[in-house]
Amino acid sequence: MVVSCDRLLIASLLANLLNNAQRHAATAVTVAVRAEDDTAVLPVFDDGAGIAPEHREIVFERFAPLPESRERNPKGTGLGLAICREIAHAHQGSLTVEDPPRQGTSLVLRMRLLP
Ligand SMILES: Nc1ncnc2c1ncn2[C@@H]1O[C@H](COP(=O)(O)OP(=O)(O)O)[C@@H](O)[C@H]1O
Ligand SMILES: [Mg+2]
Repeated sequence: MVVSCDRLLIASLLANLLNNAQRHAATAVTVAVRAEDDTAVLPVFDDGAGIAPEHREIVFERFAPLPESRERNPKGTGLGLAICREIAHAHQGSLTVEDPPRQGTSLVLRMRLLP
């Protein structure tokens, strides 16, 4: 499975997702990669409190106004996921919060596979 990407930008995207997941996880973070047709799908799952369905888009806004963010991570910039999504889009990919397989949060990166 091969994608074309700027490795520094993708490293920063993944570091941000893993950092968030580690901070929110109750016990574990799970990362997987699979191919779906011409797309690489990379879910980062953590078994933490989760993101409420009504906040699934707000978390990608700069300085997302989520009260629990400030309590849990007073030093957080609130820019991480906004930048992650910009990096995904710059690669013609996507980054979304999706239904987790069980209690927790799934952030899913999708990128076009090279033929
Ligand atoms: N894995 C996660 N589990 C639960 N909430 C999350 C997770 N990742 C991000 N969030 C929520 O999305 C908000 C925005 O994330 P981010 O842009 O990385 O900002 P920051 O980490 O600086 O607070 C976080 O403050 C948090 O409320
Ligand atoms: Mg963050």
